[in-house]
Amino acid sequence: MREVTATVLENVQIAENIYSLTFATEEEISVRPGQFCMLGVAGYPLRRPIAICKAERKRFTVCYQLKGGGTKSLATNYTKGEKLSVLLPLGNGFFVKPEEKKVAIVGGGVGIFPLISAIRAFAGEKEIFAYMGFRNKEAVCMEYEMQRGKSLTLCTDDGSLGFHGNAVQAFMKEVNEVRPDVVLSCGPTPMLRALKAAMQGRDIPTFVSLEERMGCGIGACLVCVCDRTGGTNARVCKDGPVFEIGEVEL
Ligand SMILES: Cc1cc2nc3c(=O)[nH]c(=O)nc-3n(C[C@H](O)[C@H](O)[C@H](O)COP(=O)(O)OP(=O)(O)OC[C@H]3O[C@@H](n4cnc5c(N)ncnc54)[C@H](O)[C@@H]3O)c2cc1C
Ligand code: FES
Repeated sequence: MREVTATVLENVQIAENIYSLTFATEEEISVRPGQFCMLGVAGYPLRRPIAICKAERKRFTVCYQLKGGGTKSLATNYTKGEKLSVLLPLGNGFFVKPEEKKVAIVGGGVGIFPLISAIRAFAGEKEIFAYMGFRNKEAVCMEYEMQRGKSLTLCTDDGSLGFHGNAVQAFMKEVNEVRPDVVLSCGPTPMLRALKAAMQGRDIPTFVSLEERMGCGIGACLVCVCDRTGGTNARVCKDGPVFEIGEVEL
């Protein structure tokens, strides 16, 4: 992990309430799929955790949804040439074993962004079956990135585009046909809970990336602690954000 000064190259709206922000850095950065960064937004003492969607040599991209003051400030105050301090790369990220050839990717909401980094990283060497859920067709973005795998099923809650329902429902309709060797997921907690219940007894390794509120992002403040099954705790920022689905309480 290191702190870098990143310069905004582009900060554009890509869907309803969603922005894509690309930075240039002075040094090359190396990032695993599923790792995140902590963005220092001027005027906000706590940095904001955001997944790294793409990283190539001296530039990286994050995509963020407008939520509270920090993300609204990002959208309005950070135009081309602005600089901000970023801690990266953080967290463990997604790992796929060499023998795991078929990878199912199940995402919803802002959880699609860390999964895009997984699709980008694994698409060349693995068969990727992606199931990505959005509220409605206005919220759909980054389709060209999600199409890098073998198949992509877009899902909308209101049925305005693609499969009518969520990504877990779409995935479970096809799981017996696809027979993935591993499942990678990120999304709202109810979605992850539904995935956990649906995968019970299937003997397919399933990993989830958690999004807890964070303070430091580096394991020091314990703001992000979650419960492990069995009674102990884990820091989502340092021990995660990716966990085996049976390892954590959802
Ligand atoms: C590992 C990780 C990766 C994430 N990746 C993305 C991403 O790629 N795109 C995206 O849009 N969002 C992502 N989030 C959620 C994002 O961090 C919050 O939406 C954002 O911090 C909200 O800040 P705010 O100032 O706009 O909102 P406020 O609600 O005003 O924030 C107040 C405080 O709560 C924290 N906070 C609020 N919501 C969350 C949340 N859901 N998770 C963590 N901290 C939160 C903020 O960091 C801040 O410290 C991620 C969260 C985590 C933990
Ligand atoms: S955010 Fe501080 S320990 Fe995880």
